[in-house]
Amino acid sequence: GSKNQGSAENLSFTEIPHALDGFHHLPSDYSADVLLRWGDPVIDGVGDFDPAALTAGEQEKRFGYNNDFIAFMPLDPGAGPGEGGHHCRSDNSGRGLLCVNHEYTQPHLMFSGYHDEHSATRGVSAEHVAIEQAACGHAVVEIEKTTDGWQPVLNSPYNRRITLNTAMDIAGPAAGDTRLQTKADPTGKQVFGTVGNCAGGKTPWGTVLVAEEGFGGAFQGDPDNIADPVEARNHHAFGIEPGNRNWGDHDRRFDIGVEPREPNRFGWMVEYDPYDPDSRPRKLTNLGRFEHEGFTLVSKPDRPIVAYGGDDDEHQFVYRYVSRAAYDPADNTGNRTLLTDGTLYAARFDEGGSGRWLALEFGEGPLTPENGFRNQADVLIDARRAAALLGATPMDRPEDVETNPVNDCTYVMLTKNKKRKKGEIDAANPRARNRMGHVLEIVPPGQYGQRDHSSDTFQWNTFLLGGNPNAEDPNERGAYGQQSPTAISASGWFANPDNVAFDNSGNMWIATDGCESFGFHDGLWAMATEGDNRAAPKHFFGCPQGAEVCGPEFTPDGSTLFVAVQHPADGGHSTFDNPMHRWPDNDPKLPPRPSVLAIRRNDGKPVGS
Ligand code: FEO
Ligand code: CA
Ligand code: CA
Ligand code: CA
Repeated sequence: GSKNQGSAENLSFTEIPHALDGFHHLPSDYSADVLLRWGDPVIDGVGDFDPAALTAGEQEKRFGYNNDFIAFMPLDPGAGPGEGGHHCRSDNSGRGLLCVNHEYTQPHLMFSGYHDEHSATRGVSAEHVAIEQAACGHAVVEIEKTTDGWQPVLNSPYNRRITLNTAMDIAGPAAGDTRLQTKADPTGKQVFGTVGNCAGGKTPWGTVLVAEEGFGGAFQGDPDNIADPVEARNHHAFGIEPGNRNWGDHDRRFDIGVEPREPNRFGWMVEYDPYDPDSRPRKLTNLGRFEHEGFTLVSKPDRPIVAYGGDDDEHQFVYRYVSRAAYDPADNTGNRTLLTDGTLYAARFDEGGSGRWLALEFGEGPLTPENGFRNQADVLIDARRAAALLGATPMDRPEDVETNPVNDCTYVMLTKNKKRKKGEIDAANPRARNRMGHVLEIVPPGQYGQRDHSSDTFQWNTFLLGGNPNAEDPNERGAYGQQSPTAISASGWFANPDNVAFDNSGNMWIATDGCESFGFHDGLWAMATEGDNRAAPKHFFGCPQGAEVCGPEFTPDGSTLFVAVQHPADGGHSTFDNPMHRWPDNDPKLPPRPSVLAIRRNDGKPVGS
């Protein structure tokens, strides 16, 4: 703690310009190691990557596609698996487990022969579907910092892939409910795999949270042909439609005509223990079912665990979870029940800067049989409908919702919402046809550093409105805190906030998804959250064309920043055979590859300082 906390005086890097080309961009005096790429070996026994010879069995041992969320879970020197949960309290910044989501696959960029995205969606072969299912999910890779930079540890016993075929438990109030039962699983308590793994979170007891976001796209079929009207409505709400990809032709559970309840087993948060490579992941039904961006925790000793998350779809909600029991840093076993016993809430943002958390509890208010809820399982499976009935505020696509550990305020990334009509604007979503996105600041009651995140009331304000502060159109004009437009540099403005991270000084690092619509790359922008420079962004990182950047994650000492560059060379008519560029390898034998970078300051000081 110094007086610089939360101010931008320590964001001393030389800002990079807006650009758009086939390369990534960093300030001078910084460099990036390409740490992990699609196809790199994760499990022993596979050699160099040859995309033409790739099989599903091999893909299960290789780094997956479209890396998104990143958690760095430190390992003490010499620590190995099976020694209990002590590793999670390590703050080692030189060795750890990199836990990475693989959100989705793009066959036109992964395989030769598809002439565009459309042909690669509707007519994929059985072998390609199996490879895609093995390329989704999650990877755990031990990494260490060497004199040559960060390197994966190829033979590490921790290394693991989680795919669409990994057996998982279903935990919490919806486990075993009829609506989760299928022919393959009449118990409704076990499911194979996870998909749509966007962002996530970490717990102080050493587990990782993986979100299931756009799972609807994995399913084919027409909800109107489903006999049960409740499920038909539910599947429509998650984008299951006849034009979706054809996985169901080859893996029948992804055809809702064959297995109408299988989609109910997706759209949850998944928790697993990366320190135990044999641990079984579990889906946490307490955190509700929707298009989860992620869930991030506020953990204070002797207080309930509070977790915040967003539902990334137009007019969907911001959520909060509060555990029933208190967090005890000394009780790693007891802490593992905190996310399976507690209450989910949705946010109402009122005019004038106050707000309220509304509990999703069966039997309370409108959440009754008259409105079609049989029990708490229904409330959680249909969390969107429950939140809407409670009067939660429909938002402009909530992405990451995360708390700044320095000022103890919570920030909501709202990426955009082109569907918001003029008559639908409100104080928290002030733009019709919001193309730029914005960021809200939630201030729970209490003193700086000791705020009560479990309180049912809060204050909120608009932290920033994305866009150029000098734009002619007032609806698209950016606004950055109280900064005057002249305080924002030519490349300091951005749009479409998605992921967020905080450095040890409390500066906010925003990752964007969509800036190419405005003529420049997606990337990272860093800014203070307090002081004279509050909300004044500086541009730190730029993606290669076609990509967005995900998962910004610092090592505990702040000296390395990991980023996941997702879908490089996507867009236009780019394909495997004719990509717009071949980042990061620039090798004519290799396609562009989603990759994780490890960014450091050349002098080893904290990134951004
Ligand atoms: Fe997968 Fe919400 O971005
Ligand atoms: Ca994405
Ligand atoms: Ca995202
Ligand atoms: Ca996004």
